[in-house]
Amino acid sequence: MTTATTGAPATGAVGTAHTRVEGRDKVTGAARYAAEIPFAELAHGWLVLSTVARGRVVSVGSGPVLEMPGVLTVLHHGNAPRLETDYVGMLGALPDPTAAVFQDDRVPHAGWPVALVVAETSEQAREAAEALVVIYEQEPHDIAFSARRPDTYPAGGHLPALAEKGDLEAELAASAHVVDEEYNTPEEHHAMMEPHAATALWDGGRLEVVDSNQGTTWVADELARMFSLDASAVRVRSEHIGGGFGSKGLRAHQVSAVMAATALQRPVRVVLTRRQMFSLTGYRSPTTQRIRLGADPDGRLRALDHRSLNQTSTVWEFVEPSAAVARTLYDADAHRTENRVVRLDVPSPTWMRAPGEAPGSFAVESAIDELAERCGVDPIELRLRNEPELGPVSGLPFTGRNLAACFREGARRFGWAGRDPRPGVRREGRWLLGTGTAAGSFPAMAMPSTAAVTAEPDGTFTVRISAADIGTGARTALTLVAADALSVPTERVRVHIGDSDFGPAMIAGGSAGTRSWAWAVTAAAGELRERLAPGGTVPPEGITVRSDTTAAVGALAQKERHSYGAQFAEVAVDVTTGEVRVRRMLGIFAAGRIVNPLTARAQLVGGMIWGISMALHEEAVRDSASGGLYGADLAGYHVASHADVPAVEADWVDDPDPDDPVGIKGIGEVGIVGAAAAVANAVRHATGVRHRSLPIRPDRVL
Ligand code: MOS
Repeated sequence: MTTATTGAPATGAVGTAHTRVEGRDKVTGAARYAAEIPFAELAHGWLVLSTVARGRVVSVGSGPVLEMPGVLTVLHHGNAPRLETDYVGMLGALPDPTAAVFQDDRVPHAGWPVALVVAETSEQAREAAEALVVIYEQEPHDIAFSARRPDTYPAGGHLPALAEKGDLEAELAASAHVVDEEYNTPEEHHAMMEPHAATALWDGGRLEVVDSNQGTTWVADELARMFSLDASAVRVRSEHIGGGFGSKGLRAHQVSAVMAATALQRPVRVVLTRRQMFSLTGYRSPTTQRIRLGADPDGRLRALDHRSLNQTSTVWEFVEPSAAVARTLYDADAHRTENRVVRLDVPSPTWMRAPGEAPGSFAVESAIDELAERCGVDPIELRLRNEPELGPVSGLPFTGRNLAACFREGARRFGWAGRDPRPGVRREGRWLLGTGTAAGSFPAMAMPSTAAVTAEPDGTFTVRISAADIGTGARTALTLVAADALSVPTERVRVHIGDSDFGPAMIAGGSAGTRSWAWAVTAAAGELRERLAPGGTVPPEGITVRSDTTAAVGALAQKERHSYGAQFAEVAVDVTTGEVRVRRMLGIFAAGRIVNPLTARAQLVGGMIWGISMALHEEAVRDSASGGLYGADLAGYHVASHADVPAVEADWVDDPDPDDPVGIKGIGEVGIVGAAAAVANAVRHATGVRHRSLPIRPDRVL
């Protein structure tokens, strides 16, 4: 019997640097990832992907393969169970048919899953999968992405395809300075460290899936719908996750593993190879974006026009809403932003860190830099002159807009004052030097979540929430939040996450995970604290309080809710090789209250490094003949490595969200927004050459 009161005043854990609570487990190998967890009687599935980009499967030669050592079954469209696919999932979309495997003989893109070979060992499954003969009837495919195609159409999706105000053409005609340019970004891939992996098994009439995903209730909900199961009959767990970035939702591996586990009545694991991930798990679509800016002589915007096109597959629509970022960044008398889509014989793209904002900010923030040059106005000053009082198109008030403070603090620390704006004048041997800046923003959302907090008889507290820690430090952040809400030291708080049995919660996505979960944890912990009478006792089973923030989140007033950032980069460009080296980078963010400065800084720096990678390295190239990718692996797909990353610093200004119980906004994605533009603007300053197509490869520099 222990004293039940939580006692002491607030511990001040939030805002204090705290190492990851599972850090020791991770570095010692005690933390097990989805594909490492042992199961008795485990069988292994290996996916077979189409080698053609369009057509249909004529036959799957299962016979000889079933004679191979260890092979248990071969699943394909001819024998797989029918799935329910006519539902709108938790994130408001129909399921991507690339995940709803083996439903018909159509092949809509290269790397489409056509069969699953299951065997006693992973090696046997792989050998048999490679021996499986699949005959296709091939049809001509079309993967030519271009804004000049006649078949582009206005985007669906969660954002309006078009937002406009004012008379754009009239304002452009009346402008003293006009920028009218096209910007292009390539196909990019998530390339997270841990490949997708899932094990499915039936346990006492319940389906259990041990997975690597960004939301256990999300994946559980989709599996229940697809397999027409009661929601309570599905449990998904995802304890440790080696990165997600938007691609770890429901995919072909979980669905095919469930099919095989059902057919064989034993646990089945499906792990994707790095190469398979390049066609099965989504990617960032290439974009082509046209921007027209019109301004008065002093740089005040009269007109802002941004039209973006992305590709999607023929079987699923994904919108990369690149034209949406300017809807909040800049005021202008006339505004027009439009997202369009074209359907090609390619895999479905998906959310990838700062979907829309990442490529969109490259275009807008490059164009703003071009305008600043034309007006002869410093690029920071030009941005400050176009700061809106209210949402530029929505007319809504902002819930804190500290972008100007980010630029002032960033300029001071980066040493922006006294910058010679002339391009190509700073030289150091064979290197030309330049500096660039760019703005960024990303929506600050809160989504309904549930949590349970238990006061244990031993004086500790247990939090249960189906949150996901994809490497962000969310588990640690929630420990700090719970400690403060309970007014106890962090050592007395244990946070369990990654289990759909804990009830519905936001996914690790939309930069809204930690904020949404923290809200639910704070609500439950606050109520529990009130319930614990001073001097009272806790029964052996503990005292548990559950929260559900649906009503509270739904009651949030309509406002423009965003995090902001100011990015600064210094580059050196080798005039003999065309190599661009980023020398230093600084990002100052206004992103709500920072829960854990240690992991927050790491996450923001990680986003900025993605920006360097996007600016200089990342590019997936499709082969028009096969419809597949060249070099679909981490040798062929270049990401920034340690040698590419110099001194990168991230910091923030005070910016608590007044409408959030903890003051959080969200930091997951804002770190990448504007980062590539800052690098590109620095390359322009160094060399005098404007790069409007990413990546800025050496052959493009020369
Ligand atoms: Mo993120 S692209 O919302 O996982």
